[in-house]
Amino acid sequence: MKTVLVNCSPKKRFSASAYLAALQSFFLKGKKVTKNLRSKKDYTPVFEQLKDADSLVLCLPLYADGPPSHVSAFLEEAELFFLKNNLHPNLYCIANNGFIEGRQNEALMQVMENFCHRAGINWCGGVGIGGGVMLNITRIVFVIQTAIFFIQYIIGIIQTGLFLNTGLLYAFLQNAGLLLFFNSGVLFFLIRMGSAVNKCSVSGKHYTRILLPSFIFILIANIFFTLLSLFQGGLFRGWLKKK
Ligand SMILES: Cc1cc2nc3c(=O)[nH]c(=O)nc-3n(C[C@H](O)[C@H](O)[C@H](O)COP(=O)(O)O)c2cc1C
Repeated sequence: MKTVLVNCSPKKRFSASAYLAALQSFFLKGKKVTKNLRSKKDYTPVFEQLKDADSLVLCLPLYADGPPSHVSAFLEEAELFFLKNNLHPNLYCIANNGFIEGRQNEALMQVMENFCHRAGINWCGGVGIGGGVMLNITRIVFVIQTAIFFIQYIIGIIQTGLFLNTGLLYAFLQNAGLLLFFNSGVLFFLIRMGSAVNKCSVSGKHYTRILLPSFIFILIANIFFTLLSLFQGGLFRGWLKKK
């Protein structure tokens, strides 16, 4: 069995779609191939892989309540490709969006379902995920946390000679557990969808989000985007610009 996962985010690095594709791939059996779709030159490598694939998993961000324009353009080409080659793989979709409600992806899921009807392939469902930006940040926080833990652990060994620092380990596990909890809705639905992909069965449409109370999400998002706008434009644009 072969599954092709396509990361459709236009971002070259650190996209939420890449993170979700990697998570989904972890729960898949058989041959797995992950490809990027950012421009027209990516069509051929993706189509090459699709020739003998059983399933296609599209991982994409939500742009203005629908798929990004480069994905819509790809779908038009893909429709012709599937019809011309008489291919009927199963299509699953993992969509993520910036707002907290995963249901924002409902219209995008409908686009995917319509595409499947037109292209003669099997619509098997998808997962719509809210708070994609923040979920993506949790994995970066986890890497930083782990690095800090190891540095503190080594310093602890040098200072005390003790190899087991239960206080430090407990604090690390507590923080890691919290990050895992934030991701648990996504993990639950990706495990379910992974099982459907492995069985080539219908998974249905499901919506989830980062498991963080909305009022905390809004507070963090406001701080994040205020800082981002200050450093990437706005207030400091003129001051920091190279003259
Ligand atoms: C042009 C553009 C349009 C967007 N439109 C929406 C939207 O309609 N609703 C929403 O919740 N998020 C929207 N977002 C936020 C993205 O869906 C969000 O940042 C997502 O996590 C990006 O995923 P990626 O890292 O995989 O590219 C938009 C972002 C951009 C750049």
